[in-house]
Amino acid sequence: MNSRIDTTQVGIVGAGPAGLMLSHLLARVGIDNIVVEKRDRETIAHTHRAGILEHGSVQLLTDSGVNGRVLTEGHRHDGIDLRFAGESHRIDFSNLIGESVWLYPQNEVFVDLANARERDGGDVRYSITDTEVFDQTTDTPKIRFTEVDGTAVEIYCKILVGADGSQSVARWSIPDTVRTDHFIEYPFAWFGILTEAPPSAPELIYANSDHGFALISQRSDTVQRMYFQCDPDTDASVWTEEQIWEELQKRVDGPDGFQLKRGRIFEQMVLPFRSYVCEPMRYGNLFLVGDAGHTVPPTGAKGLNLALADVRVLFEALEIFFTTKSCELLDKYSDTALQRVWRAQNFSYWMTNMLHSRADANPFERKRALGELTSVTSSRYGQQYLAESYTGWPHR
Ligand code: DHB
Repeated sequence: MNSRIDTTQVGIVGAGPAGLMLSHLLARVGIDNIVVEKRDRETIAHTHRAGILEHGSVQLLTDSGVNGRVLTEGHRHDGIDLRFAGESHRIDFSNLIGESVWLYPQNEVFVDLANARERDGGDVRYSITDTEVFDQTTDTPKIRFTEVDGTAVEIYCKILVGADGSQSVARWSIPDTVRTDHFIEYPFAWFGILTEAPPSAPELIYANSDHGFALISQRSDTVQRMYFQCDPDTDASVWTEEQIWEELQKRVDGPDGFQLKRGRIFEQMVLPFRSYVCEPMRYGNLFLVGDAGHTVPPTGAKGLNLALADVRVLFEALEIFFTTKSCELLDKYSDTALQRVWRAQNFSYWMTNMLHSRADANPFERKRALGELTSVTSSRYGQQYLAESYTGWPHR
């Protein structure tokens, strides 16, 4: 069997948006890096995830020279609707706090970053197998894997980055004695669909109802994304289109007669729901970014944005480290990143619990939840809190 040793400054495991964005930023300041990824490029490009970018994430994509496609292909959204007891309540982000978000799917962010790395001659190796990381606490941490042609490769690095998502190999390489796993599960999941239909409303609708939660999101003028709360054991494949539309419609029904615009459903799947944080997000010279370090439930679309926020913090620390040899910012990386992580965990948890209903909820809990939704939507401060968290807190 052929084998080879490659060397680089930063070895990155995972070519999702976090890994590729870090690779792109490092390359721009002349820091050599290699990205390895077990999936092939086409699979990642067609994996549907969330679709909302905070303004800071949009800025990172455009200001760092990835490309401006988010501005031409994406759609700016200046607010969302919270719908409960059959009535919609608009949260007007631009009026409340002068900010917006962008509807631009995560797989498009991946496509932009993958193209930018290719355009700039980046070293990204897709479809690799048997990934392992080791020697994390030495000056030469390493990644070991097998390339598509069977070559066994070791990459010797100065810094290792785990950007390999919620099933992270990098994270599980951190010994139990060093790592604390903070974890909660929820008694529900999301049933997600993609449908060929025009938008049902100009903005996203987050709906709470006696039948459970629904989110009416969008993708384009002709394709829409929608979700409804379901049991975690649901088998998505046995649901008919008619059943899905009925379930979605009854969660948005109200005296205003609002009707979803229906179309052919061409994808249906169940999304898991959990909150997880790994503390610290560092072990020796291994640093975790994005889902490798934490998972949020999808309500509020924080996952990708949080991953890009980690990358921003780690990139600044690495730039200082490689130009001045100072470890000061690297040593603070985990604490700095975790501050935002816990804010986002709180926001995602709060949005989730406020909008979903528990199967075993008694009438008191049901009425209390409506009391909370009324408090938030009837107070400018309540609306501002939601708007500020949803559109993204400032990056220092
Ligand atoms: C989408 C997903 C989310 O979790 C959310 O809060 C908003 C939008 C989406 O996939 O469009």
